[in-house]
Amino acid sequence: MHASLRILVSMIREKQPRILDAGCGTGIPASLIGKITPSADLYLLDNSSAMIAESRKSWPNSLRLPVWVRGNALSMPLKGGQFDAVLACHMIKFISDRVAFFKEVTRLLKPRGILFIVTYDPQDLHSQLFHKYFPSYLRLDLQCHPKISQLYRELGETSFQVQETRKVPYRYYFRTRKQLLSFVSTRPFSTFMNYSQRQFDEAFVQFRRRVEIELPEKHILNECRQTCISAYSQD
Ligand SMILES: C[S@@+](CC[C@H](N)C(=O)[O-])C[C@H]1O[C@@H](n2cnc3c(N)ncnc32)[C@H](O)[C@@H]1O
Repeated sequence: MHASLRILVSMIREKQPRILDAGCGTGIPASLIGKITPSADLYLLDNSSAMIAESRKSWPNSLRLPVWVRGNALSMPLKGGQFDAVLACHMIKFISDRVAFFKEVTRLLKPRGILFIVTYDPQDLHSQLFHKYFPSYLRLDLQCHPKISQLYRELGETSFQVQETRKVPYRYYFRTRKQLLSFVSTRPFSTFMNYSQRQFDEAFVQFRRRVEIELPEKHILNECRQTCISAYSQD
């Protein structure tokens, strides 16, 4: 995550940039930006009050306080033309009308402002640990992650010019199988919300069986690649 956000920060020329994190969730990406650029004027928006509350609660004391806004990314209660950059980190998969979202981001950005999308290319999902061993989760995630070529088309339709696309690898370990299983049992990813409790319990039993047979007892690696697309608003 850190490496992806460093790319965004390196693209911003202003000394005290105003940055909006649309779909901020628990605020981790925004707080990382705050650590890299302490002078940044940060706005965190989410349509879930629970996420806003969690992000307020866990915001680091050492950082300047951001502005929290509850609102829908398709029509954000914010004045236009004020942001140097808008971050859309792992939220694009929830957006029903991406063209409407990109138009809304154009409204908020200053001329030549940056939209920075962090997402997963559907082609890269298969290699992730959770998807490999949880096939129904892979199917759901494949349905909601747009193809990168589709995103380019939609960005083009809304006057964005794609600057660059980078694949950013990241890897992390689970110390033991037990730790991996207990992590997944808490339904840590938003896509898991599409399961009823019964569907999740059934899928989890199969996941556990495969993990116990196919993965080592200790030191389990998850390797992922995030796709980062930066685009300039031409309006
Ligand atoms: C997977 S989380 C990602 C959170 C954060 N950006 C991150 O990368 O850690 C997606 C977030 O987008 C929010 N979200 C989904 N649809 C939204 C919408 N239409 N408007 C605003 N927020 C939305 C969800 O509430 C959730 O907090």
